[in-house]
Amino acid sequence: MRVLVTGGAGYIGSHICLELLEAGHDVTVVDNLANGKREALRRVEALAQRPLELFTADLNHKDDLSAAFSGPRIDAVIHCAGLKAVAESVADPLRYYANNVAGTVTLCEVMRQHGVSRLVFSSSCTVYGDAATVPITEELPPAPVNPYGRTKRMIEQLLTDLQASDPAWDLTLLRYFNPAGAHASGSIGEDPAGVPDNLFAFIAQVAVGRRPELRVFGNDYPTPDGTGVRDYIHVVDLASAHVSALEPAGGPAPRVYNLGTGRGYSVLEVVEAFERASGRKIPYVITERRPGDIARAYADPSRAHAELGWRARRDLHEMCRDAWRWQSQNPDGYPDS
Ligand SMILES: NC(=O)c1ccc[n+]([C@@H]2O[C@H](COP(=O)([O-])OP(=O)(O)OC[C@H]3O[C@@H](n4cnc5c(N)ncnc54)[C@H](O)[C@@H]3O)[C@@H](O)[C@H]2O)c1
Repeated sequence: MRVLVTGGAGYIGSHICLELLEAGHDVTVVDNLANGKREALRRVEALAQRPLELFTADLNHKDDLSAAFSGPRIDAVIHCAGLKAVAESVADPLRYYANNVAGTVTLCEVMRQHGVSRLVFSSSCTVYGDAATVPITEELPPAPVNPYGRTKRMIEQLLTDLQASDPAWDLTLLRYFNPAGAHASGSIGEDPAGVPDNLFAFIAQVAVGRRPELRVFGNDYPTPDGTGVRDYIHVVDLASAHVSALEPAGGPAPRVYNLGTGRGYSVLEVVEAFERASGRKIPYVITERRPGDIARAYADPSRAHAELGWRARRDLHEMCRDAWRWQSQNPDGYPDS
């Protein structure tokens, strides 16, 4: 297949591109490079020893986007492009709705114009909001609690409406839990702009000396050590799920899958595992809980296993080891390019 990956120059997208190339697919990337790096794609090509095609274009610029569909026939789209910082989405919701929701509308319009009907969408466990029960199954009614999560849920709804309007669409929604780690080579990984929004990237920057300490938001949650528990999933496992999701499977579309390991780890367990993997001390301070944070969230990933034949294979140690390899080899992230 030739697969068009939106947001392919980003953290998860670059790992997906590599998995696709290694599985023998051809890859076209559309990315406006707002948060993605050209260098990430150069490294993907070097690892796969195969080229891919990059269109530097914004999803909301229909003509530019259309150009990416005008070359060799695109068989499927993996839609990772999006803004993802929760606090930023609270401060500037219009930007999030315009980029994420309107961008997806334009993408689907352009796909329809070009007769492309298969799409795999990067959704998030954020759509579940403050889930009352764990493990979280796909049946739990979504109830996102911030604008970012609502953009993800709105996109899921618009894709569900689209599927209902025309059975020719073939849509899959993947709800990621907490992506972590990097490719085992250490040559591609997460390179956040500004202050990292997620735990692994923050810890890695503390370990490498870019930040003095980790702030742990609350140690009075009803969890074994009082810190929040999340389901971390190795980014290469996550990427491989997309290759599986390209093959039609399971029940009627849109198909919805949780992507997680099914096991939760607390913040302090991750700190300890990272210290072991890196041989570095991770100083931390306990601060107030963050508004909106929940005690525990982990997936029931059994549907993805049953229908896609996929499951996460890499454990917490491998996530820490690979995140550290990436960060120690690239202390300042990708060079500017
Ligand atoms: N990283 C996580 O913790 C996480 C968890 C759940 C879901 N997701 C979703 O997975 C997807 C990828 O996340 P990531 O962590 O790789 O983020 P990322 O920021 O590294 O990658 C997103 C990419 O999309 C590009 N992009 C954004 N808006 C665009 C637009 N309008 N047109 C073209 N390109 C655009 C950016 O330049 C970037 O390269 C996002 O949709 C995110 O919401 C991420």
